[in-house]
Amino acid sequence: MLLFRGQQLTDAELIAFSRRFGELDLAPVQETGRRFVAGMPEIYIVSNVFKDGELLGSLGYGESVWHTDMSYLPDPPMASMLYALEVPPAGGNTGFVNMYAVYEALPADLKRRIGGLRIKHDGTYNSGGYVRQGVAPSDDPRKSPGAFHPLVCTHPETGRQMLYLGRRRNAYIEHFDLMESEALLDTLWSYTDRAEFAWHTVWRVGDLVLWDNRCTMHRRDPFDPTARRVMPRTQIKGQARPSA
Ligand code: OGA
Ligand code: MN
Repeated sequence: MLLFRGQQLTDAELIAFSRRFGELDLAPVQETGRRFVAGMPEIYIVSNVFKDGELLGSLGYGESVWHTDMSYLPDPPMASMLYALEVPPAGGNTGFVNMYAVYEALPADLKRRIGGLRIKHDGTYNSGGYVRQGVAPSDDPRKSPGAFHPLVCTHPETGRQMLYLGRRRNAYIEHFDLMESEALLDTLWSYTDRAEFAWHTVWRVGDLVLWDNRCTMHRRDPFDPTARRVMPRTQIKGQARPSA
């Protein structure tokens, strides 16, 4: 996770800088079904701001839950880049959790138990709790759309093992009875909430943050709905499918 302060970037410059790290993924469409920026399908905008009666971006002003970006796809981005164009005077901080550390903290018997399992990463809801465009909402994790990935993945560049959870809502451990799946997921998630594994950034205008979307998860604090927050984002294509 890297933080570059004091940047001044147009959307085109954000795309150009992001491309130095690899090809880009197109952004998911907005909750309303519209593209964020005409002619720049790579740009996702996190925002609560209305412009000409329409929302500029996604995720609103509420809390967003711990998640990995776009892991409901078979090939999630390897990294995301988020740029602080406008930030509220308070709140709206973003936390990052180290999923290598979470994996390493698991007891040995739990590590043995989860080796070889696959988990479904839900494609129904985004991290702000909104239903994705074109999806019929369902709260049955066995039937909801999503992608299965190994629960323990090996990072393709560092070779280190990490817990790969995606997000909690509608997650499902393949082949498990629903109750057993829920119980195991609750146990695993209980390790992610330890303060020592996370770092929270307090945004300043001009901050550009690049995170490894494979070995971290992130979340956001809520903020005053009447304050403005505008954060364009790009996502850098994964070079290898998540694998054990
Ligand atoms: C994101 C995201 C959280 C935030 O851009 O992927 O989850 O702090 N953002 O806005
Ligand atoms: Mn995100």
